[in-house]
Amino acid sequence: MASEWILTLTAQTPTNIAVIKYWGKRDESLILPVNDSISVTLDPGHLCTTTTVAVSPAFEQDRMWLNGKEISLSGDRFQSCLREIRARATDVENKEKGIKISKKDWEKLHLHISSFNNFPTAAGLASSAAGLACLVFSLGKLMNVQEDHSQLSAIARQGSGSACRSLYGGFVKWIMGKEENGSDSLAVQLADEKHWDELVIIIAVVSSRQKETSSTSGMRESVETSLLLQHRAKEVVPKRILKMEEAIQNRDFASFAALACADSNQFHAVCLDTSPPIFYMNDTSHRIINCVEKWNRSEEAPQVAYTFDAGPNAVLIARNRKAASLLIQRLLYYFPPNPETDMNSYVLGDKSILKDAG
Ligand code: ADP
Ligand code: DP6
Ligand code: CO
Repeated sequence: MASEWILTLTAQTPTNIAVIKYWGKRDESLILPVNDSISVTLDPGHLCTTTTVAVSPAFEQDRMWLNGKEISLSGDRFQSCLREIRARATDVENKEKGIKISKKDWEKLHLHISSFNNFPTAAGLASSAAGLACLVFSLGKLMNVQEDHSQLSAIARQGSGSACRSLYGGFVKWIMGKEENGSDSLAVQLADEKHWDELVIIIAVVSSRQKETSSTSGMRESVETSLLLQHRAKEVVPKRILKMEEAIQNRDFASFAALACADSNQFHAVCLDTSPPIFYMNDTSHRIINCVEKWNRSEEAPQVAYTFDAGPNAVLIARNRKAASLLIQRLLYYFPPNPETDMNSYVLGDKSILKDAG
């Protein structure tokens, strides 16, 4: 190996939004969930993480920057991902630069990682999902890891549970698994991105502020104190998962919307059932729910599904482009873009439409 060189690789990963939520772990360190979950991965380029990983003999330690600020890599989650990926590294040769890295070299070489999210971090839009999936994916590429996406998903899971679902596009299920070592707790693709491409996802950013209770600590408190969570995980979600899979296969929007809305509302009910209660949604979130519910009930069939992650921001899934444009008109009418309201500016994309309050 020549002594002064640097090898870099850049990858981009979209975020995913759960329509049947993951909320609660049965094993904190391996990140094993109490129930299966299902999500939809957004189209690439909209809400996504871009991560550049670099390796060089000149680097003295592993370092990471998130949105331009250095963060510590010492936490167990980052360490698990780095350890698992390094263990699977294989020989890499870059003839152009005259670089040869053997499987053994990877144990000694240090990494510099720089990651940017093009959407609010830690605000309930699943930045940990895009972020950790991108980290594992980019490191896997740099180190020539041969594992398939499902196996990589089990590594990303150890960085952040929801991250395992961002390794695939389209509709994705995170199977909770049975094994104590977590080997069967991984993501599978239910349907690819073309399967149901008339759906339009609109994201209303009610607040891009960082949430007070992270998903990790929120769900820990729910597992410890909420009886509703136990009931949900054992009795409700297993049946819902089957129905949701069927709705997705059949492109049955009415069932899809009913299940997604009910599941979001139950997840937030679990948060309220936690002691002390956790409030992720705010008044604007509630007004958006009201607006969609009233509209859906005034039509022959539902036009829009809503779902809220651990934050106040609404993810609205319209049945088609026509419903999406009507939805935007309604949002503009009820939440006019002026400084007096919570939401005041719009960035329109093709399939994901970001409405940002800044
Ligand atoms: P969110 O709802 O945005 O997923 P979480 O509370 O689950 O919020 O996770 C936020 C945390 O995820 C951040 O504080 C940071 O530690 C981590 N994270 C977010 N984006 C990235 C990224 N691009 N790379 C690495 N870690 C990230
Ligand atoms: C509400 O994956 O962020 O978005 O595994 O502790 O990192 P950790 O939590 P995280 O939790 C996501 C919760 C959710 C629902 C979901 O994405 O399924
Ligand atoms: Co998260």
